[in-house]
Amino acid sequence: MNCCLQFAFFLLIVFHSFFLNHVDGEPTPIVMWHGMGDSCCFDFSLGAIKEKLNASLPGVYVLSLRIGDSIIKDMENGYFLHPDEQIDMACETIQQDPKLANGFNAIGFSQGAQFLRALVQRCPSSKVKNLISVGGQHQGVYGLPNCGALSNNTCDYIRRLLNHAAYIGWVQKALVQATYWHDPLNEAEYKNYSTFLSDINNEREVNQTYIDNILTLKNFVLIKFDNDTVVQPVATEWFGFYKPGQSQAVETLEESSLYTEDRLGLKRLNEQNQLKFLSTPGNHLKFEWDWFEKNVISPYLRD
Ligand SMILES: *[C@@H]1O[C@H](CO)[C@@H](O)[C@H](O)[C@H]1NC(C)=O
Ligand SMILES: *[C@@H]1O[C@H](CO)[C@@H](O)[C@H](O)[C@H]1NC(C)=O
Ligand SMILES: *[C@@H]1O[C@H](CO)[C@@H](O)[C@H](O)[C@H]1NC(C)=O
Ligand SMILES: *[C@@H]1O[C@H](CO)[C@@H](O)[C@H](O)[C@H]1NC(C)=O
Ligand SMILES: *[C@@H]1O[C@H](CO)[C@@H](O)[C@H](O)[C@H]1NC(C)=O
Repeated sequence: MNCCLQFAFFLLIVFHSFFLNHVDGEPTPIVMWHGMGDSCCFDFSLGAIKEKLNASLPGVYVLSLRIGDSIIKDMENGYFLHPDEQIDMACETIQQDPKLANGFNAIGFSQGAQFLRALVQRCPSSKVKNLISVGGQHQGVYGLPNCGALSNNTCDYIRRLLNHAAYIGWVQKALVQATYWHDPLNEAEYKNYSTFLSDINNEREVNQTYIDNILTLKNFVLIKFDNDTVVQPVATEWFGFYKPGQSQAVETLEESSLYTEDRLGLKRLNEQNQLKFLSTPGNHLKFEWDWFEKNVISPYLRD
């Protein structure tokens, strides 16, 4: 009896791997969007990740979005081309790629994560299955890279300075990071004058299309870096932020009006167990591939 059971198991495993590897065909394609100061294709960043994905998911088609017609332009655009235009360009690129027509998984790094979310919300031809946000700033930022290393007074001074400038029209047009600058001391200004984040977060009005499109996701996976000194506050990587009116205490997504009023569909997504909160030790975007393989690739990128 024992022998037969073992044999049955053996057959099961053979069939299982046969179906996984052959009948299912190629793995679901992947679209990646890089962060600020990075590009689609540097060997030391997304180029290396593309190779690792190919090793973990043999033969997977990976499109690393390049915004602009060269790598240098792509990097510049990460600072100076308004996210609305970047998202339109990405939408068109994806639309024209026949390999992505049946859907794909998407991995956004840092600001590329909120841009990919906006793509899901705005670009009907992009059929994103699982959206992986790696250190994204979904509630914006209020602080500067590595600001914590400066004295707190200096940090606050720079913040206040940017607060005066961030919502001026030309700054919003000229500097990508100003479009997701979120001043908790003046929520009304942020809501009225942020030309990107407050729109995709349905702050001014609720765009039902955004909700409907978010709810088409199979899973929305939010990765937070526990020791992140680049992004402030780190809670933004899980859709948390400073409580309105001050810049010390932080509220979680569940405590925010975005969630309690379900202005973006995230509450429903969470109740359906499709919103995932992962965290890993380390600074911004510093993760172990083994960790990524076990916690992201296996559960979300294999089907
Ligand atoms: C992916 O890996 C295979 C070997 O498994 C290799 O032949 C192929 O060139 C790789 N493709 C890319 C784009 O790196
Ligand atoms: C809602 O978003 C969609 C997709 O971006 C857009 O086409 C539509 O104009 C928006 N609706 C409103 C009322 O802003
Ligand atoms: C800044 O303030 C925080 C919280 O009060 C404290 O933990 C941190 O050590 C301070 N940083 C510096 C550089 O003084
Ligand atoms: C934001 O817009 C609302 C509605 O138009 C207006 O009542 C309010 O005064 C504005 N707030 C700021 C700070 O501009
Ligand atoms: C990283 O963050 C975790 C959780 O906040 C903390 O326990 C740990 O001490 C931090 N490690 C370093 C090196 O700062």
